[in-house]
Amino acid sequence: MLVTLAQRPDLAEATYAIPYPPESPKFMAGSLAGLLVRGRRVASRWPHLVVALLEDDRPVARGIMVPFRSRGRLPSRGWDEVAVWAAEDALDGVVTDTACALEIAVHPDYQGRGYSRAVLEGMRAAAAGSESLVIPVRPPDKAAVPAVPMRSYVAQTRADGLPADRWLRTHVRAGGRILGVAACSATVQAPLADWRGWTGLPFDRDGVVEVPGALAPVFVSVAQDFAVYVEPNVWVSHRVG
Ligand SMILES: CC(C)(COP(=O)(O)OP(=O)(O)OC[C@H]1O[C@@H](n2cnc3c(N)ncnc32)[C@H](O)[C@@H]1OP(=O)(O)O)[C@@H](O)C(=O)NCCC(=O)NCCS
Repeated sequence: MLVTLAQRPDLAEATYAIPYPPESPKFMAGSLAGLLVRGRRVASRWPHLVVALLEDDRPVARGIMVPFRSRGRLPSRGWDEVAVWAAEDALDGVVTDTACALEIAVHPDYQGRGYSRAVLEGMRAAAAGSESLVIPVRPPDKAAVPAVPMRSYVAQTRADGLPADRWLRTHVRAGGRILGVAACSATVQAPLADWRGWTGLPFDRDGVVEVPGALAPVFVSVAQDFAVYVEPNVWVSHRVG
């Protein structure tokens, strides 16, 4: 069963408590833009845009969206800029017209059962009041080939013409349309001590480093004591309603 937190505010805590798989990258917690759209904030301001899939009345998957006003184009800085636009529009009291999914997560014990497709359907229904639904999709399996440009990765298809990547394939099967690559979508810039804490890696040489879970290489400057990760995502649009 699919509900929104507007329908079931009592489930907010349990919905946000759905964990990521243990191998998920910890460094994404260093996203500054992500602070703007942390759990409770979205749940209390836009509960109608947070979808939970229930099994025995317990949330086992979630989908989180935020609204923003379209500026006639998709934000060139992807996920980060959507978070900023949504926060700006909320602060300014602007009427929004676009829903953007920031996250879809299925409880690790319930993955591989097609639940993400159900969450997508629930998001399309929950976004019915918006003119469109867009998603800067993060294909987690891209982490296996961080050096491959996202452009080339997205172009890889199977014999049946569907994307080779399973998460992009799920979107396309659900009716999603791949619009293009968001080259600078999610950024994490942080002192090396933070990176060492998140990854257990030494970060003791300059240049590009491959970090488990990262979809692209991380750029390191030992002398300047920081590293920067710029994650590419893939813009997908879905019909609403
Ligand atoms: C990405 C995610 C949402 C997919 O959810 P899911 O419910 O497990 O996915 P599905 O069961 O619908 O499977 C989707 C596809 O992946 C395949 N798949 C599922 N688990 C797999 C695995 N462990 N290895 C390889 N393929 C797998 C399925 O067979 C399916 O492909 P198919 O349609 O060709 O058969 C889920 O893995 C997740 O929550 N990951 C952590 C959060 C995340 O990374 N979210 C995405 C970015 S916001």
